[in-house]
Amino acid sequence: MALDLRNYIASIENYPEEGIVFRDISPLMADGEAYRQATDRIVQFAKDKGVEMIVGPEARGFIVGCPVAYELGVGFAPARKKGKLPRETVKADYSLEYGTASLYMHKDAVKPGQKVLVTDDLLATGGTIGATIDLVEQLGGVVVGCAFIIELEDLHGRDKIKGYDTLALMKY
Ligand code: ADE
Repeated sequence: MALDLRNYIASIENYPEEGIVFRDISPLMADGEAYRQATDRIVQFAKDKGVEMIVGPEARGFIVGCPVAYELGVGFAPARKKGKLPRETVKADYSLEYGTASLYMHKDAVKPGQKVLVTDDLLATGGTIGATIDLVEQLGGVVVGCAFIIELEDLHGRDKIKGYDTLALMKY
């Protein structure tokens, strides 16, 4: 039976600062059936897109993307923070609330023309996912979809990924 996945999201008020309601997916990950159902729904979304590779940003994008990759029988490539990847990389910058940050991928992580699904736990302002898409496209990959467990609608992250087919399992 389909679970109501909202029952597996912890909402923590005033974390990490006053006025923020932090949406924590760890109860969902901790429950085998909820984690499986969330994964299955993303797999269904991906199935008719010819996905050949999953790419997810550090660190929760791995948690969402890896079981999807396993189920589809395709590979997973990480987008990582500075200093984590040992070989030649491409880089994408994005803005944070204060200042900027960068994500990196290995230059051979995605092949030109490869169809890629990008995953993360949560779509907020869209900075992280925008940088991840940028990396895939620098490598010649084709982003055929984006999938999230949660979308925070007030932060309008979808505006940054207009034109990409986007799934969010839950919206707040
Ligand atoms: N990332 C950005 N905003 C967030 C929130 N409210 N909860 C969890 N992760 C976030």
